[in-house]
Amino acid sequence: MQKVSEEEAAAGAQRPYAEGSLLSVAHLSVDEISRILSETDRIRSLAPAERSAILRGRTVALLFYESSTRTRTSFELAAKSLGATTTLVSDKSSSIEKGESLKDTGLTLRALGAECIILRHSASGAPFVLARETGLPVLNAGDGMHEHPSQALLDLRTMLTRLRGPEAAKAVDSKALAGVTVVITGDILHSRVARSNAMLLPKLGARVILCGPEKLLPELALGLGEGVEIERDFDRALAQANVAMMLRIQRERLAGLELDLGDYIARYQLNGERLAAHAPKALVLHPGPMIRGLEISDEVADGPQSAIEEQVAHGLAVRSALLARALRAGAFGKGNA
Ligand code: CP
Repeated sequence: MQKVSEEEAAAGAQRPYAEGSLLSVAHLSVDEISRILSETDRIRSLAPAERSAILRGRTVALLFYESSTRTRTSFELAAKSLGATTTLVSDKSSSIEKGESLKDTGLTLRALGAECIILRHSASGAPFVLARETGLPVLNAGDGMHEHPSQALLDLRTMLTRLRGPEAAKAVDSKALAGVTVVITGDILHSRVARSNAMLLPKLGARVILCGPEKLLPELALGLGEGVEIERDFDRALAQANVAMMLRIQRERLAGLELDLGDYIARYQLNGERLAAHAPKALVLHPGPMIRGLEISDEVADGPQSAIEEQVAHGLAVRSALLARALRAGAFGKGNA
């Protein structure tokens, strides 16, 4: 994974996509990450009546070509809490089933008044296409095996809050996660969460260790950026972890890749014994959905080191700020931006 320089990030921001789009974490400078965190905190501190004025009268469309619980619900609840009207279009119950293209679906939503589209799609790069074709701000809610930027931001806020305290989650600089090692383990190959985190966290000084078997973490397929390493031995990786982020095996994307699940569980499952032996103080994260008994055991998922439910709550908070940013409202409004 390539680390994007500040210059490249600035260039990314000038690409022909509406201001406020979030297509990739590569486009985010440290200053911009800090502004998003600061607006997240500000919005959370507002009384409900003040919060619901931020996007009053605005319309947000959620366009989901893949299933989702956390991302879809948190974006929808966040938009509603800011006073926006929301509409959900899913591939299962819309004219997408009849073959309508992404472009035409996007143009239809725009004609119906959508001012921002939140898109989840199975094709990597789909949010870039939608943003280009509609001219609307688009928030990438997960595109194929490419990125999940809002997940990485909510993971960041969870880590900052737990490791550094709530004050530290209000603003960041390039040293905010200095000395922190984040071990991301599992199906790295298919994981947009791993990709976004591996690009975002080193911008703030974190060291990222990717861990998994060759089949799920092929060395040559990944251009590792600065601050990102591979360690195949899970116990050795865990021994270095301040944060252990576990990933689901994405059966829907394995496409013929044979994986011995018994062997995988023996080598890579995060269970109580392993956590106690190698990382008794590490924070445990999982983006969800979890497959309990496969990549993570019940005792770890529900244990004292787990911040998995907190991640979901941080998702609601961070996505509020991303919506305000997309619609140039709140602290991102005219005169403040
Ligand atoms: N983390 C995540 O994207 O979960 P959902 O698939 O439920 O949205």
